[in-house]
Amino acid sequence: MQKTISIAGGTGFIGRHLSKELLKDGYKVLISSRNPDRVRDEFKNFEIFKWNPLTEDFPAEIIERSDVVLNFIGENISKRWTEDVKRKLRESRIISTRKIVNSFSRVDSKGKLFISASAIGIYGSKRDELLDENSSLGDDFLAQLCKDWEAEAGKAEQYGVRVAILRIGIVLGKNGGFLARLYPLFKLGLGGKIGDGRAWMSWIHIDDLARVVKFGVENENFSGVYNVVSPNPVTNEEFTKIFAKVLKRPAILPVPVFALKILFGKELTEIALTSSIRVKPARLLEAGFEFKYPEIELALRDLFKK
Ligand SMILES: NC(=O)c1ccc[n+]([C@@H]2O[C@H](COP(=O)([O-])OP(=O)(O)OC[C@H]3O[C@@H](n4cnc5c(N)ncnc54)[C@H](OP(=O)(O)O)[C@@H]3O)[C@@H](O)[C@H]2O)c1
Repeated sequence: MQKTISIAGGTGFIGRHLSKELLKDGYKVLISSRNPDRVRDEFKNFEIFKWNPLTEDFPAEIIERSDVVLNFIGENISKRWTEDVKRKLRESRIISTRKIVNSFSRVDSKGKLFISASAIGIYGSKRDELLDENSSLGDDFLAQLCKDWEAEAGKAEQYGVRVAILRIGIVLGKNGGFLARLYPLFKLGLGGKIGDGRAWMSWIHIDDLARVVKFGVENENFSGVYNVVSPNPVTNEEFTKIFAKVLKRPAILPVPVFALKILFGKELTEIALTSSIRVKPARLLEAGFEFKYPEIELALRDLFKK
């Protein structure tokens, strides 16, 4: 019998892609949203339930019905980091995860699978060092946030739940995320490298991310921490050249810092200028996962084909 999968954060950039891919493959998919009415038309083939992850318990009956619970909630990171936004970045991840874990404790959860998002930001910026799942963790704001987030998710294990944490890199998809921000600039021929262009970017095509989730759902040994990035991270300079080539646009000058500050605010711009995280998906490769888009050019050509 096909499995039932619930997706907290199923309306987001990653979640909406995942939910549709899983539905296409015949899974029964349940989606949570703070505001189901906003997305009712788009998700008419799904069962959507209303849940405010900051104030309400995750409905235990949803856990009861689910073989797998996916957690992809989180206030969007690409905005000005005021103190209020930083609080939301933390609370939307940590409180929501805690509420889901509490609900595992309220039903018989033995044998269920909990796949919870995290990010490669957990390693902190490490310049050229190639990082795997055993590498040391960072201590900046994002790293600390990811550590606390993963710790909350890990608590589900005490209820007999199998927990898998996905440390996700930059997700490349057409309808949101990193590329949606950069595309207008590159399309106008104003794209360019950021800073000296030497920073590493560890990325994954959104279809491969969905394939990792399906691989996890169907593989009973899938548990623990996984880096979810392609096996071939690129420097920002390489990314810039290839993205411009794929779009057939020039990308000659570095992106001006003031443009970044307008797009992302001061603190995130500092991170964009200095952060370099070069990650390999060691555990996925060991488990035999095969990437459909291992190379950046292949990934971008697929996303921007006519
Ligand atoms: N995109 C990437 O490149 C990337 C990389 C690494 C890790 N991740 C992580 O993966 C997760 C999903 O990413 P995404 O890009 O799909 O995110 P997204 O589109 O910005 O949002 C995900 C969902 O979270 C819910 N949400 C947003 N702000 C919230 C808040 N303040 N309180 C409670 N719920 C809130 C929203 O659901 P409703 O409005 O329907 O309630 C939204 O659909 C995030 O935790 C993100 O940090 C993403």
